[in-house]
Amino acid sequence: MDVIHTVADLRKRLKREPSIALVPTMGNLHPGHIALVALAHEHGKCVVATIFVNRLQFEPGGDFDRYPRTLARDAQMLEGAGCHVVFAPDEKEMYPEPQRVHVTPPAVAEKLEGDFRPGHFQGVCTVVSKLFNVTTPHAAIFGKKDYQQLRVIRALERQLEFGIEIVGAETVREPDGLAMSSRNGYLSAEDRAKAPQLNRELVKVKAAIEAGSHRLHRHEEMAAADLAMAGWRVDYVAVRSQATLGAPGAHDKELVVLGAAWLGKTRLIDNLEIKIG
Ligand code: PAF
Repeated sequence: MDVIHTVADLRKRLKREPSIALVPTMGNLHPGHIALVALAHEHGKCVVATIFVNRLQFEPGGDFDRYPRTLARDAQMLEGAGCHVVFAPDEKEMYPEPQRVHVTPPAVAEKLEGDFRPGHFQGVCTVVSKLFNVTTPHAAIFGKKDYQQLRVIRALERQLEFGIEIVGAETVREPDGLAMSSRNGYLSAEDRAKAPQLNRELVKVKAAIEAGSHRLHRHEEMAAADLAMAGWRVDYVAVRSQATLGAPGAHDKELVVLGAAWLGKTRLIDNLEIKIG
């Protein structure tokens, strides 16, 4: 496995690769990322993982500074997963001059996370476009755990005609249901014990709707109230159409329930797809 730090070296290394599958990450890897790499092997002969903590997608006062940088351990995990190339630039390499050209995110970015993390998806779209340009992949793998991000990237790819297959990977969970996330490591022991409740509330909403309930708002409210009672600060619990992330239409059969809530200083997100009929 080659670990590469500059765009020039990366371009040289990938020049003659006929089929590249990209796994963009911010590092601090866990088994969820390794599942993305496993899926990448089905979509390209050369699997490239990128590790870059992208300042542009963190809001002021967010966790950019405390986000763990664990390159040596990450590289070991990626090598074990059969990754061929790791691109791990520093900030100067990715942003050699102040980034004045930004990618305006598509409409699907304007709700949910967009309401609570202004500027986040602009930062994501800008860095992902740059990573697409420097790696020229045929396919790129993104986890469904960041459900709205996956929708945003699909629209970004369509609108800018990158010609890249965007592949969504299922969320990997701990045995107690907690979605794996680099941010789980921030949780105190007490909050870690509480954390699976977010998934449990979403499971209840999904089960009620799949059993035929049409009272979507009621289920959103009940889940949010249960979380708040247990000490969470809830940003949203929302049942949306999978395709648009807008309010579901009367005949919408493919929904998703998404939740975002804080335990102490740690914000967790999760979602479950819902199929009706
Ligand atoms: O999902 C992430 O880890 C990041 O948002 C991404 C896609 C690597 C862009 O920085």
